[in-house]
Order: sequence, then structure tokens, then C-alpha cells
Amino acid sequence: MTTATPAGKARVVSGMRPTGPLHLGHLVGALGNWVPLQDTYDCYYFVADWHALTSDYANTSNLTAFAYEMAADWIAAGLDPEKSTLFVQSLVPEHAELYLLLSMVVPVPWLERVPTYKEQQENLKDKDLSSIGFLGYPLLQTADVALYDARFVPVGDDQVAHLELARESVRRFNNFFGDVLVEPQPLLSKFSRLPGLDGDKKMSKSLGNTIHLSESAEDVRKKVRSMYTDPKRVRADIPGTVEGNPVFIYHDAFNPNVDEVNDLKERYRAGKVGDVEVKTKLANALNAHLEPIREKRAQVLANPNTVRDILHEGSRRARAVAIETMERVRDAVKITYR
Ligand code: TRP
Repeated sequence: MTTATPAGKARVVSGMRPTGPLHLGHLVGALGNWVPLQDTYDCYYFVADWHALTSDYANTSNLTAFAYEMAADWIAAGLDPEKSTLFVQSLVPEHAELYLLLSMVVPVPWLERVPTYKEQQENLKDKDLSSIGFLGYPLLQTADVALYDARFVPVGDDQVAHLELARESVRRFNNFFGDVLVEPQPLLSKFSRLPGLDGDKKMSKSLGNTIHLSESAEDVRKKVRSMYTDPKRVRADIPGTVEGNPVFIYHDAFNPNVDEVNDLKERYRAGKVGDVEVKTKLANALNAHLEPIREKRAQVLANPNTVRDILHEGSRRARAVAIETMERVRDAVKITYR
């Protein structure tokens, strides 16, 4: 069983669904974790377009546009196609083959017990999520990582249950067919969750409380100006609460000037600073952070074929690995016709 690549680096695999433009929550959570791993691991990052279909099957018209945009955002935020393999799940059909074989041995109740299954059905009442595809979401995710012998899977804490299902499924598969697949370990991001602009505990597209990576400097300023802060503080001379205040959580996440942040916090607690100053400094820090990303994004999108070529080339590389794994898996299952 191979757990390391020819270069001796352990492999890391992670994916993201193409559901719209990336926002600061993705930057702090997933990408903030993915980018630094590129130097230490053999990283495979993919567009999970089939996973997007599990809930968005009724309207697929934006799927490929979202996929290209997301990959442009990845590269703009620091994923380097020279270091990492960036690819598209559906361009490597072996993901489906491994998922099918896993589905032979994984009991349906294991999937019904994954907490996100019922949660999402509750949360997305407007969608019919009683499909096999939606039930199988975490098992497809298992195939995604097992196909590449991934040792580590960088994810946010919302994905821990999926990784647990992946580990159990791999173990059960190996019990039947021998030691053929690698059990993946989650690599949790430090900063898993960024609150929304409205103070909701999560920044998310469906809640409309996001700042996109591609947002203009002016829109960033506008959105920051309307951010939720301490609601008890109706005047600048009333002492405010810093803890759990989204404006300060963003300062901590994005403002590299620690002295400035500490000074603002001190004066905020003492009722000696207005929201306008706190927010102006936050908008400046965010724009300083986003400016190089905007530039890189524009550069990547200047040639309309660049992202497509990167994804096709990455998918070709990924597929070569996937084909080898599937040969090994078919041998183990004893369905080889030579
Ligand atoms: N479920 C993940 C999410 O919503 C996306 C995903 C699909 C993924 N396949 C994966 C993440 C494999 C890590 C590994 O964020």
C-alpha cells in the first residue's frame, strides 16, 4: 500500500463545492489551511462538482461557471498549480467507481446517522433531499480521499463527522478485501468559522452576510460600515464588549497590526472610540489583505483559457493516480479480467 508519493511527501486531499464566489469565511477556514500545506505535502485540491449536485440538482446552469470562478479564487488566494494538483472531481470518473464499490459494504444506517444528513434536510426544506445521491454524500467524500491514498484531509470542524464515516467505511472495506485503502485523518483549521457581517455565527452565502474575495474596495468599505457590532453601544462613550463582537473577530483575523487592534480594543472597552474609527481601520486592513488577491485574480482571468487549462492538466495528473488505485482496488475485490 502506498501512503507516500514518489517525492516522499504524504498526500493531502481536499475539495470544495462550486456553489458561488468564495468569501472571507472560505479564506479564513479552508484556504487559510490549504495554502501553507502546499510546501510540506503533495496536495490535491479539487472542485467537488458532483457534491454540489447532491443538493443543487434542480438547477445546474451555473455549475461550470462557478467551478471556474472558484478555481480562479483559489489561485488568487495562493494555491499554486505548480505545487499542487488542482482538478475537477467529475473529470476523474474513478471517484464514482470507488464510491460504487464502497457502497456495496457500507450500511445505509451509517449514512443516516451522519448528523449533517438530517440537519441539512431540515435546513434546506425547499429542496427534496431524499435522494440516494444526498444520502451518499459522505461516502462519495470517502471515495474522493481514498482514491489518492490521502493521509490528511484539511477541513473545518463541520466536516469531522464526514471524515469519521470515511475512516469507518475504509476500515470495513479493508476488512472484506485486505489492506487496500488508506484511512484518512482530518487536519482541522485553526480558525474554522468566521461570523457573518450580521453577527450570525457563520458567514455563508445562503445567509447573505458575506464579503466576497472579488468584492471591490468600495463595496468592502460599505459592507464593513453596516456590520453588526455591540448593540448596547448606542453612543461612542458607552463601554463596549469586544469578545464575540464580529468587528473585532475580523480585526483579529485580518489586521496584522496587533498594536492597532489592541489599542482599539482598549478604547472600545473604555468607551473612548467611535464605531466609525474601528470600522474604517477594519476596512483598510481587509482591503490591504484583498488587494493582492484581486490583482492575482484579474491576472488569472485575463486569459479566459488559463483556469480551464490548469484544471484539465490537474485532472489528467489526478486521473493517472486514480487509475492506479482502481487497478489495485479491482484486484483486491477480485474483479479483474485479464
Ligand atoms: N463536504 C466538503 C464541504 O462541504 C466538500 C468535500 C467534498 C470534501 N469532498 C471532499 C472535503 C473530500 C474534503 C475531502 O466542505
